[in-house]
Amino acid sequence: MTKIIGLICGSLRRDSYNRIIAQSLVEMDNSVEFRWIEIKDLPLFNEDLEMEGNPETVTTFKSSIQEVDGIIIVSPEYNSGIPGVLKNALDWASRPAKSSVLNRKPVGLIGATPGGLGTAFSQMQTRQILEAMQAHVLPFQKVLISQVHEKIDSNQNVLIDEKTKRYLQRYLQQFIDWIDHLPILENKS
Ligand code: FNR
Repeated sequence: MTKIIGLICGSLRRDSYNRIIAQSLVEMDNSVEFRWIEIKDLPLFNEDLEMEGNPETVTTFKSSIQEVDGIIIVSPEYNSGIPGVLKNALDWASRPAKSSVLNRKPVGLIGATPGGLGTAFSQMQTRQILEAMQAHVLPFQKVLISQVHEKIDSNQNVLIDEKTKRYLQRYLQQFIDWIDHLPILENKS
């Protein structure tokens, strides 16, 4: 069966480098189906909203996560940490705590920055947050893309750096293969 991989971008910026990187994954492998999972319309997390019954955007967001075999998060780093919009989305996905759609969900982490450290701090935080939700985060491997502005054709908004493409291709293949070695996904519908 064809695997379905959800893509979450941690940046809402129109010409986001991280979204360009995520889009390059879509073009790199047609053995899997990619689905964008958008976070921009989620309200700020508030337990009162949960008590009143989740807003429709939240229900749709959680269903989108439930329907995929794995998720790859491609995100910038803000102030040496995880962007607020991404943390907000993960907090929504973490509820209810004992039956979160992220529980045992395979997750891969990729990040890109014009800076030199490739979102290392943000990825460490994101991994810790996901582990608190008992998601499976691909161990050992990291995709830290630094100086990303030099690796993109900014007129066409595409990744042009061949070394980065190979790096991403390898990571994607490892992620897809790894999913098969995990325990059965209890939350997949
Ligand atoms: C940044 N940026 C940034 N970069 C980085 O490598 N480490 C950091 O800690 C930060 N901090 C930071 C804070 C805030 C509020 C902003 C707006 C930006 C720069 C960031 O990597 C850059 O804006 C990227 O282009 C953002 O990713 P997208 O939107 O291009 O995907």
